Amino acid sequence: MDENSIAWVEGALVTIDQRALPHELRELRITTVDDLIDAITALAIRGAPAIGVSGAFGVVIAALTHSTAGVVDTERVTAEAHRIADARPTAVNLAWGVRRTLAKLPQGVQAMLDEALEMLAEDGRVNLAAATHAADLVQRLCPARPLRILTHCNTGRLATTAVGTALGALNVLHQRGALAEVIVDETRPLLQGARLTAWELTEAGIPHRLTIDSAAAWAMATEEVDAVIVGADRITADGSVANKIGTYMLALAARHHGIPFIVVAPESTRDIATASGRDIVVEQRGAHEVTGFGSVATALDGTRTFNPAFDVTPPELVTAVVTEFGVLESPGEARTAADAQTQRMY
Ligand code: MRU
Repeated sequence: MDENSIAWVEGALVTIDQRALPHELRELRITTVDDLIDAITALAIRGAPAIGVSGAFGVVIAALTHSTAGVVDTERVTAEAHRIADARPTAVNLAWGVRRTLAKLPQGVQAMLDEALEMLAEDGRVNLAAATHAADLVQRLCPARPLRILTHCNTGRLATTAVGTALGALNVLHQRGALAEVIVDETRPLLQGARLTAWELTEAGIPHRLTIDSAAAWAMATEEVDAVIVGADRITADGSVANKIGTYMLALAARHHGIPFIVVAPESTRDIATASGRDIVVEQRGAHEVTGFGSVATALDGTRTFNPAFDVTPPELVTAVVTEFGVLESPGEARTAADAQTQRMY
């Protein structure tokens, strides 16, 4: 697989099985809606932009599956599209990707495929623009020395389709010779930081140290962290940011230490139809993710858990949200007519 982590090859969605990393680079080939939904819920495919584009191809798969003699069964494809969109509730990109492709249904399967392919091509361009704006901002805010930046979860090419968002910005800074080191939270319970971000940073030759999530505030206190940079799953009209569980406590700690807390995300992650962070549905996941570590049980069988996959950081703790258009000035406003149109479809 080349620079893109997602491709459309002979009627199949081909991607990397993120569950197998960092020890195995396993290809995942998806040709049914059920397999796509399983892959998204099991986090074989994960990260807001990646599930958005995969969802778009999922609707194409549904259309290919439910057409006879070139005639698409609109009702079945629409039902399948809803099933895909509901696979995970928090990242708005999934519903966005599904709806964009579904909107082309009256024009036929080829038009749907063209739309999904356009989204795939667009994602890399958009991420590069957002990552570059974010790198510019960090260098403006912290001009003094090579930077030490803390990040959480995985926001690289695995989580998108190419380049990445927050991790894309780290790459841009590295290419400019401006980055001393990245501190990577392991990101309990599914270890996206340890398994995926540390792997991507190694591939890119970026110096990094892995730490446990609960060391992040102490790292800010003792390790000269210049900025915290993270991605997002949904940004509401008031500028609240849903992202991987643990992000909110990073924002609190960053504020205490006077460290910029920067969110990098594409416009497709903004949800201006939702007024505030209180209205975001936060996905709750199974107890087994918390009561064990890998395949080893660490708590008694039957232990009750609290396992939200995401949290919501209020806007007052966010120094800046950066998209492909630059630093977001008014979180509730649509950037383009197309953006406004897409947002109204939710
Ligand atoms: O549960 P995950 O691994 O899909 O959560 C992913 C995140 O929280 C990412 O930070 C977010 O989707 C942005 S990816 C560019």
